[in-house]
Amino acid sequence: MATCVVLLLTVVAGVVVADDNQQTVTDAALAYRIEALEDIVRQQAKVIDDLASGLQRALTGLEACSPLKNTFPLVDTADKIEGTGLLQEQLTGNSALHAVFVRSDINDPLVPVVTQLTERVNEVSASLQALKNEVTEASTSVFVHWGSSTCPGSSVLVYSGVVGGSNYNETGGAANYLCLPLSNITLFDYTNYHTAHLYGGEYQTEDIHGDKDPLCAVCRSSRATNVMIPATFYCPDGWTSEYSGWLMTGYYDLESASEFICVSFEKEERQGSGVNNNGKLLFYTATVCGSLPCPPYFGGKRVTCVDLRNKVASSSTSLYVRWGSSKCPGTAVVVYSGIIGGSSYDETGGAANYLCLPLSNLALAARRSNKNAYLFGAEYETQDQHHDKDALCTVCQSTHPTTVMIPARSDCPLGWTMEYSGWLMGGYLYDAAASEFVCVDGEMAARDASGRDDDGKLLFYTVTVCGSLPCSPYTHDKNVMCVVCSK
Ligand SMILES: *[C@@H]1O[C@H](CO)[C@@H](O)[C@H](O)[C@H]1NC(C)=O
Ligand SMILES: *[C@@H]1O[C@H](CO)[C@@H](O)[C@H](O)[C@H]1NC(C)=O
Repeated sequence: MATCVVLLLTVVAGVVVADDNQQTVTDAALAYRIEALEDIVRQQAKVIDDLASGLQRALTGLEACSPLKNTFPLVDTADKIEGTGLLQEQLTGNSALHAVFVRSDINDPLVPVVTQLTERVNEVSASLQALKNEVTEASTSVFVHWGSSTCPGSSVLVYSGVVGGSNYNETGGAANYLCLPLSNITLFDYTNYHTAHLYGGEYQTEDIHGDKDPLCAVCRSSRATNVMIPATFYCPDGWTSEYSGWLMTGYYDLESASEFICVSFEKEERQGSGVNNNGKLLFYTATVCGSLPCPPYFGGKRVTCVDLRNKVASSSTSLYVRWGSSKCPGTAVVVYSGIIGGSSYDETGGAANYLCLPLSNLALAARRSNKNAYLFGAEYETQDQHHDKDALCTVCQSTHPTTVMIPARSDCPLGWTMEYSGWLMGGYLYDAAASEFVCVDGEMAARDASGRDDDGKLLFYTVTVCGSLPCSPYTHDKNVMCVVCSK
C-alpha cells in the first residue's frame, strides 16, 4: 500500500509541476489533460477509499457521484435511502454498500497518510480547476440551483434570489417556478386590469423549513450541457454532480399547475421568512406504484434528484430527451434510458412537465410529510396497439452543439441532422392536469408487458384546430407530427 501511495504522489506531483509550463495549448490538449488529471483524482479517491475500508471505518449514508465532494447531508442520514441498494441488502444481508467517510480514530497511524493524500487530491483539484477555467468559454450552460443562494462546484453565480411564480389557487396561473432577483429590479405602474400575478414561493415541507421562503441561484456551468435526473444520485459515465436534492413541485390538489424541479438538500431560505403567506408552493414528491413499476421503485417513498454536468469540456454537444424510445440515434450517445413519468392526469395541482425516470441506481427516502406531490409512470392513450402501455424514454447527448424540436414537421431544415421524428403528444384537453407538448418517437416504445390500464401521466396524439391556427398552410383535424434536429 505504501509503495502505491508514494508512486501516486510522484505522478500527481509531476502533473502539478507540468501545469506551470503550459501556455499556448489547444482546447483539445486541455481537455485531454483535464481527463488525465481527473483520472488521477479518481485514482486518489480510490486509494483513500481503500484505506478507509481497510481500517474498517463505519460506512453510513450513501455514495454520491464523487466520494470526495458529495456526501449525503447529516440532516438526512437518519433516513434509510432505499432503491437498488435496499433490494441488494434485503437479498444478501450485506449492508456495507455506501460510503461517507467517518474518520473518528485520530490516533490511527494511517491518518497522516490519508491527510497527506487528501491534501494532494485538493492540490490536483485546484490545478484541475485552473485548467478548466481556461477551457473554451463556448462550452458553458446555465442552470438554476433551486433551494440555495450559491453555485456549486466550478459553476459561477449569475444572480441569486427567491423562488417565485403564480399563486397556488390560480387555475390559469403559470406552471413554472421562477428565480426572482432581489436587487436591481425593474418594475412599472400598470394600466391594464387583466393580468397574471407574481408571488413569492414557500416550502410546504412540514418541517423546520415549512412556510419559509426558498432561495435560488442562477449558475453558469463550466460545461455545455446540464441535466437533472429524478430519483437517483447516480452519475452516468462521463457525468459529475452539480448538486443533489429533493424532487419538488405543487400539491396535487391545488388549483394551479406546477412543474417538477430539483431543490437542493440545503433548502436554504430567506432570513426572517416564515410567515405563512403561501404563493408558489413547494412540496416533497412521493412515489405511487402502478404505471410506475415497483420494483425497481417502492411506493410511498420520497423522491430525490441530482443535477449533472459533463465531466470533460467540449463545445460540441447538446442534450435532448428522446421520448418514446429506449435508444439514441447514431448522432448521439445514451446518457441514460428509463420510463416517462410525471403527475397524474387528474391532479389540478400536479406538475405539467414529463420526466424521464431511471430504472436503476434509485435513491428513494422515507416519506416525512403528510402533504405530498405524487410521482406516477406514464401511459400512451392512443386507442391503437400502444394504448395503456408504459412509455419509455432516453436522454441523448448529441454530438452537435444545438438541438431543436420542430412541431408539425417530419424533416429538418437544410444543413441540420435529424435526431428522430414522431408524434407531437400532450395531455387530454378535458383532463384536470396541465401538460406540455413533447415529441414522441414514431416507434412509441413501451415497457415489456405493461399494457395494464394504470393511468398516471398520459400521452395523447395532438390534432389541429383551425382558427388562430392558420389554414392553410395547416389543415383542420389532422394528427400532428414533430421532428428533433441538431446542428
Ligand atoms: C387566492 O387566495 C388569495 C388569498 O390567499 C385570495 O386573495 C385570492 O383572491 C385567491 N385567488 C383566486 C384566483 O382565487
Ligand atoms: C446593479 O446596478 C448598479 C448600478 O447600475 C450596478 O453597478 C450593479 O453592477 C448592478 N448589480 C447587478 C447585480 O446587476
